[in-house]
Amino acid sequence: MNPIEYKNNQLHIEKINIQELSNSNQTPFYCYSEESIINQYDGLYSAFDMDIKIFYAMKANSNLSIIKLLLNKGSGIDVVSGGEIERAIRAGAKGKDIIYSGIGKTDEELNYAIESKVHCINVESQSELIRINDISKSLGVKQNIAIRINPDVDAKTHIKITTGMAENKFGIEYDYTESIYKIAADLKNINIAGISVHIGSQITSLKPFKKAYTIMYDIIKNLRSIGHKIDHVDLGGGLGVSYTTEENIPTFKEYANLIQSIFGNADIKVYIEPGRLLVANSGLLITKVTDVKTTTQKTFIIVDAAMNDFIRPTLYGSYHEILPIKNNLGTSNKVYDIVGPICETGDYFAKNRKMNSVKIGSIIAIKSVGAYGSVQSSNYNSRPQIAEILVKDDKYEIIRERVEVKDLIKQEKIATWL
Ligand SMILES: Cc1ncc(COP(=O)(O)O)c(C=O)c1O
Repeated sequence: MNPIEYKNNQLHIEKINIQELSNSNQTPFYCYSEESIINQYDGLYSAFDMDIKIFYAMKANSNLSIIKLLLNKGSGIDVVSGGEIERAIRAGAKGKDIIYSGIGKTDEELNYAIESKVHCINVESQSELIRINDISKSLGVKQNIAIRINPDVDAKTHIKITTGMAENKFGIEYDYTESIYKIAADLKNINIAGISVHIGSQITSLKPFKKAYTIMYDIIKNLRSIGHKIDHVDLGGGLGVSYTTEENIPTFKEYANLIQSIFGNADIKVYIEPGRLLVANSGLLITKVTDVKTTTQKTFIIVDAAMNDFIRPTLYGSYHEILPIKNNLGTSNKVYDIVGPICETGDYFAKNRKMNSVKIGSIIAIKSVGAYGSVQSSNYNSRPQIAEILVKDDKYEIIRERVEVKDLIKQEKIATWL
């Protein structure tokens, strides 16, 4: 059973009726199905016949409850900033559960990560490696690292979330692998633990993974042959999800089989860092229709959510299904632009979308918003960030309170000379 579906023509998330949920909670808000996240984690984990460790990439959704839920499942956490380390620890992660990825780590962040005894730091440059050594030395410890390799593989995804091509800012060019591992091996406060790669996000074919992972396999073989101990390979995240029913995404099993076929007999620990895959389809953005406006060219459904709450459609041109809360309104051939109230034409959720007729006051649900949704929200137009709700079976809790305008202004002051 799908945790998000119509029952008696009423949209439900698990056993909660969305109309009722929106009667008692101010729209717009995000809500997530716990069951959906658990199903994704279990489905992915059990697809492997080999030992594997999942490190949830919390950048996709960093609410403390979501992190805690996945920690409870046995997941580790992949972080990309000092702030994410702090959140992960607040959610209950220990240093050993954390892998620290991401380019441009500051000395303060590295210091915090090393003091927090993170399991591994994925290194993005030679100078970062030297700084990690220096900071580890000052703290009197030896830090586990993996070098992130840039395999120059086109993940064939959106240009803004492609990370494994030579022209991208990420990782070490693979021709340079041997020399950087040699440098790492000579540093006293560095322990070479593994190697890592991440070629992008929302990847919908196995081909780029196969290419990148095969390159990684060859690199590992070579590094081992010249005496480096490579204990683990971190294959990053990136497997896509279907945002529409038509998309043809590789299954967990196909993805697992690919990894097994390359690393199954390599005597190496395998880590993966999925983000989107675990949480994207767990989430709905619930919003209310505030106006319906017809011009000579279009009919606009104007809702109370906006691009500051959910920026993916305008940032990546992403498609999200939009569902009416009641499924028995009859079909309509009319198309609408579903837009928010912000003073930018880019403030839209869908264009030329066929919808059942809705009217002012109707509630609608934007689907598949659990990943890269609330985490990318802002306060643009002084719109306070909205609440997040976690649903489990027939109960729910608010896992982030709606921010108030007074909280937005709190950190500001009027200059004394004004
Ligand atoms: C280093 C790293 N690991 C994992 C991920 C998670 O990617 P996704 O959410 O596509 O699985 C990202 C996101 O781009 C990333 O930068």
